[in-house]
Amino acid sequence: MTEPSLESPLLLGMMRLLDYPDLDSPQSLLGLLERCVERGLTAFDHANIYGQGECEARFGAALRLRPGLRAQLQLISKADIVPAAQDISRWRVKHYNTAAAYLVGAVEASLARLGVERLDGFLLHRPDPLLQVDEVVAALQSLVECGKVAWLGLSNAEPLHWQVLARELPLRCNQVELSLLAQQAAWDGRLQAMQADGLQVQAWSPMAGGHFSPTLHKALEEVAVAMQATPSQVALAWVRRLPGRPLPILGSLRWARIEEALAGSALKLDAPTWFYLAEAARGIKVP
Ligand SMILES: NC(=O)c1ccc[n+]([C@@H]2O[C@H](COP(=O)([O-])OP(=O)(O)OC[C@H]3O[C@@H](n4cnc5c(N)ncnc54)[C@H](OP(=O)(O)O)[C@@H]3O)[C@@H](O)[C@H]2O)c1
Repeated sequence: MTEPSLESPLLLGMMRLLDYPDLDSPQSLLGLLERCVERGLTAFDHANIYGQGECEARFGAALRLRPGLRAQLQLISKADIVPAAQDISRWRVKHYNTAAAYLVGAVEASLARLGVERLDGFLLHRPDPLLQVDEVVAALQSLVECGKVAWLGLSNAEPLHWQVLARELPLRCNQVELSLLAQQAAWDGRLQAMQADGLQVQAWSPMAGGHFSPTLHKALEEVAVAMQATPSQVALAWVRRLPGRPLPILGSLRWARIEEALAGSALKLDAPTWFYLAEAARGIKVP
């Protein structure tokens, strides 16, 4: 089993960057990044499609104000989703593209927007039904060999997807949707399979985008009081309690929420508490 690829207690997701007007200026975003690094949060999750590239561009603009910060960061990006608006075919359809030229071009475009020479991690964003293993393997190997990417991973992959690619490529992680409201990966064996295959589990939307039900909020409050923690800390601890200790990719870029999440990163739930919350979220008894 390989070592987890990231030391950071959380990953900070950049998908919603454009939702925060107070982070519009490079200076203000740099301030947030500096605060994160001071607190040990050094890993940032991007994708070429976030804000149609604008999220990476703004991050890059912030970094250009203090290029020395780059060495302290781990930057992940992803590609292969082509939104309908970027489809140049007559169908104007959202689709996936894992052609070698597309992947190489996507990485180069992310590097240019971020203003860096190398991505730490590069992930295929969604499993592409048209993926040709030989072609993807050659493209990803070439990106690593030429130093544009340090390591590789997948996102939203099922066991067969990663097992086929892992025969040819060293893969370090898989991002899955994982939260109290998205429990499937916790029940279908995927987390154990990732752990057994040496893939770090990265949990996207760990707070379910803020859509917890009133019943779940109540249960989180109860547990939080009992554990002298906050409901958000408990919700993230529920994710971390799973096999492989999934690394939450936090989506909020409000400093108070980030700080709260960091302060709770050592919180550990016992099994009955984990099941109590799982049940409150699912609304059905454990079988
Ligand atoms: N690999 C993939 O396919 C994939 C898919 C989706 C996302 N991702 C990655 O995962 C990251 C996180 O996704 P996400 O933004 O959906 O994650 P999230 O952390 O589950 O959701 C963040 C949203 O929840 C709201 N929220 C409400 N209450 C909150 C609380 N108590 N604590 C924290 N947030 C709260 C936040 O609003 P406020 O602004 O008010 O804090 C924000 O809008 C993305 O940025 C992206 O990097 C990956």
